Parts: sequence; C-alpha cells; structure tokens
Amino acid sequence: MNDDKNSQSIIDGFKVICICRSIRKRTILKAIKKGCKTAGEINEKTGSGKGDCQGSRCQDKVRGLLDGENKH
Ligand code: FES
Repeated sequence: MNDDKNSQSIIDGFKVICICRSIRKRTILKAIKKGCKTAGEINEKTGSGKGDCQGSRCQDKVRGLLDGENKH
C-alpha cells in the first residue's frame, strides 16, 4: 500500500507545472522545501513564470502548490 502511494507521489512529481519552461512539480516542491515563501521566489529559483506566457498558465498552479505545502 505504501509502495503504491510512494509510486504515485513520484509519478505526480513528474507533472509539468510550467509548460513554457518544462518545470516539473517536484522542482517547485523542492524550492518550497528549501525555503521559497512566495511565487516570485519560486520563479527566481526555478525559472518558472519566465517563459513565453510570462506565467499566465503556471502561476496559479505555483501558488496552489505553495498554499498546499504551507498547510502541512
Ligand atoms: S507556463 Fe510558466 S511561463 Fe508559461
């Protein structure tokens, strides 16, 4: 059961959050764990939000991950 959960979590981490820059969920979560507190800090650290759409497609998802991680 735990193995299934871990596998699902690993697969989930490969989801692309920032399509323009091909930045995956696990990269965003790692930035949050390393201390990024705002979407701007995450963008600086990972490069998300700096693609062609300038964040219009990814910043809501980045903020959602930030909110989710801060609830733990
Ligand atoms: S999807 Fe992130 S900058 Fe476009």
